This record gives sequence, structure tokens and C-alpha cells, in this order.
Amino acid sequence: MKATAIAPANIAFIKYWGKSDEAQRLPVNSSVSMNLSEAYTTTTVEFSKQLSHDDIIFLSDDSSANNKRPHKVNELENSTNRKEVDRVISHLDRIRTRFQVNERAKVMTKNSFPAGAGIASSASGFAALSVASTAALGQKMSEKELSILARLGSGSACRSIPDGFVLWEKGTSSDTSFARSIFPSSHWKILDIIAVVEKAGKKVSSSEGMTGVRTSPFFQARLQTLPPRMATLVEAIKKKDFAIFGSTAEEECLNMHAVMMTQDPPAFYWNDNTVKIMLEIMNWRTQGLSAYFTIDAGPNVHVMCEEKERDIILGKIQQISGVERIIVNCPAIGAHLVDAHLF
Ligand code: PMV
Repeated sequence: MKATAIAPANIAFIKYWGKSDEAQRLPVNSSVSMNLSEAYTTTTVEFSKQLSHDDIIFLSDDSSANNKRPHKVNELENSTNRKEVDRVISHLDRIRTRFQVNERAKVMTKNSFPAGAGIASSASGFAALSVASTAALGQKMSEKELSILARLGSGSACRSIPDGFVLWEKGTSSDTSFARSIFPSSHWKILDIIAVVEKAGKKVSSSEGMTGVRTSPFFQARLQTLPPRMATLVEAIKKKDFAIFGSTAEEECLNMHAVMMTQDPPAFYWNDNTVKIMLEIMNWRTQGLSAYFTIDAGPNVHVMCEEKERDIILGKIQQISGVERIIVNCPAIGAHLVDAHLF
């Protein structure tokens, strides 16, 4: 009754912003992402008749696992953490209802990236929780079923289930809205270098922010431009054409942020360092370097480049003031079970 899973975070090149069904977490558009090798969540789940309530324990990262007491649910004062715990328990309820079990669970979860690095953990977190929980109950689910289950926890989590480069088809119902691998992680060794410029969590969560998507006058225009942009991006990944891939991903990022900023109220996620790095990257290209950016619902900048330019681009990012931490990722496999449990 105990199982442990590791699931990667993912970075979207065609972004998910807006739902057509809030309860089922169906997106208004399909999206494409890549799993990240150095940003992942490890989660151990054990269901037990002995437990009277769910016990959710967050270990903030490797260092805290060694020298600090785990952060336990009843010690959580901060309302963001309280919300996270409630979302975990709702997901466990969803799984219990599905498999008709009543046992409460002990859940211990740890991110490879430090808490407060400004890296969203909901995708990796709900993917790992889905895989570990179903295995702990002795249930076998297909990749498609796990992707659907993870999506119900957090939309982008469905993309952390399959391997490598992933496409989430928006679908028309819960059963048809899931992610699949379009290329394995070994297909193309491109890098996603995360320049962390703010460690604090976001003020407006993506779930909250995207409820306003229809108030942007650019929403319909975005929907119209998405299918051809996605086709161009997938073809560029297939052909390993980095310039087309990078410029398409950058165009998509700016398109999504234009919608975010013109919502009512605006969902504005950048800070001054975000803009500084974006301008730097554009400038590097005039010097012959091939680097592009993408940004999610937060200020950190994901710098994409090819392996051959890794050192020069890493050196340039290190020189930018305001960059607090750098995480270098290559494409990774999807969520999977592991033998080493956290407890
Ligand atoms: O699944 P959520 O609620 O974490 O939403 C993710 C939204 C973006 O990160 C902004 C875009 C995406 O597709 O990952």
C-alpha cells in the first residue's frame, strides 16, 4: 500500500491559458511542452486503515530533508500552503471515489528545486501524486488515464505524465482531454535554462489568473492564431530547426502575456529583471547567438538554447544582475515509479 513516483515539471512552448470547463479543467486550446530534467517532484503515498485523517508533509528540498524538521500540515499557517494541502486532499478524495476506497493517506513530497524558487510545482506535484496514489492502491492505469487524472488536479500536470516533448490535445470532454508524447526525450537535446529572478510565490495563481481570459479583447485573436503556430512549432521540433522553434515559442509567450496583461483585472507577471533579460536575449541574437525566451505565469525567464551554445549563454546569464539562481534543464522522461520511498 506504499508507492513512490517522480514526475518532472514541464515548460510549455504553446501555452495553456483559459478553461472551457472549470470543474473538469478542460482547456480552451491545445498546448505543447517539454519535461524538465532538473525540476521534478518525488512523492511517496501510503494508504492505511490506521490513519484517521490525511497526513500531508512537504519537504521543501534536499537540504531541508537532511537538516530540518519536515513541514507538517497542522503547522502550516500561511494560507497559500493551506490551499495547497486542501488541493492535495481533494485529489486524494477524487482517487478514493474512483477506486471506492476509504483509507486515509500519508503523503510525503519533495521538490528537486528549492521551495520559493518561483518554479511552479503544481504540474510535477499532481503528476507524481496521481502516479504514486494509484500504484499505492494497487491500481494499474494507462498513461492516458493517468494524464486525465493528473489534469483534474492541475491542468498542466497532464503534460508531466508522458515522456519528452508532449502535446495536450484540448479534447471535447474529460475522456478526450489528455497529453501524449510526440517525441521522446532523446529526440533533441535542447536546453531550458531557468533564470530565477524572484523566489517569492506568485501573487495571482495561474488557476485564478486564467479565469479572466475572456475579458481580454485579444482572446479571440489568440485562439485563431494558435493552431497554425502550434503546427509550425511541432514541425520545427520534428526537423530540429532551432531558429524556427525558438522564434515561434517566443512569439507564443508574448501572445499569451499580451492577453494576460489586457484582461480585466490585468494578470501581470513580469518584473523589471524579466524585461531586462528578454531584451538581453534579443540583443544576443543580433550578435549571432541563438537563444530565445519563454515565460509562464511568473517573472522567471526560461532561456532556450542548443547544447553547443550552452557555456557561452550560461556565462552571459550569470553576468546579469538580479539573477538569483540558474537551473539548467534538458528534455526528460515523464512521471514514473521508483523504489526508494521518502518514508
Ligand atoms: O496548470 P496550471 O494551473 O499550472 O496552468 C499553467 C499555465 C501556464 O504555466 C501559464 C502555461 C502552461 O501551459 O504551462
